[in-house]
Amino acid sequence: MKYFLDSAKIDEIREAYETFGIDGVTTNPNHIMNSGKPFKVVLKELADFVKEKGIEGWEKFPISVETNPHLEDKDEIVKMGKEIAQISKNFVIKIPCIPGGIAAARELEKEGIRTNLTLVFSASQALIAAKNNSLFVSPFIGWKEASGEDCKEYIKSIVEIYMNYGYETEVICAAVRTGKQIVDCAQAGADIVTAGLQVYKDSFYHPFTDYGLTKFRNAWDKTITD
Ligand code: E4P
Repeated sequence: MKYFLDSAKIDEIREAYETFGIDGVTTNPNHIMNSGKPFKVVLKELADFVKEKGIEGWEKFPISVETNPHLEDKDEIVKMGKEIAQISKNFVIKIPCIPGGIAAARELEKEGIRTNLTLVFSASQALIAAKNNSLFVSPFIGWKEASGEDCKEYIKSIVEIYMNYGYETEVICAAVRTGKQIVDCAQAGADIVTAGLQVYKDSFYHPFTDYGLTKFRNAWDKTITD
């Protein structure tokens, strides 16, 4: 399962790439706002980062960038998607699962611009993303679980439907908040999870690792090692 970082902060992306070897990035208007930088400045930083690391192209390191969320008209979404895609070959156009968005994603995919259908909250929404050949679909986990739903079966059903029909759209479990949710998504057969840096850090931590390290260091110090 691939790990994407859900952030538009270049220092976090750099740390997650260099330390944990993340496989891609997802951004959204909220993350861009939280970066404190203008939209186009963030896009340039992302485009420069993939050049610096030698990971140009969406196949190597996909970066989802969302169109203006006010747009509902297919042609306007397509126009903005094309403008974003021109800036970097890594950019995958993230589009909300609304009628104009679905139509825009289909058109962009036909023209070779890859898309990520986002704000997906049901298997039937995920099905329409795959039928229209989006590269990615982003069912949100954290938001649903915060309101009391269990998402493991939900992700399982999307994966099952995609397998039934041989759809190639990859499932990004989005808004993942905990290590348990990461494991649930992996057990359900998701292709990718996307989460903030702290979620990954917490999921890699266990106090027994520190306990064991102290124990082994003490043993090492009491041993003749030459
Ligand atoms: C998904 O791709 C979104 O960027 C993201 O997970 C949205 O959720 P959040 O901002 O509440 O984490």
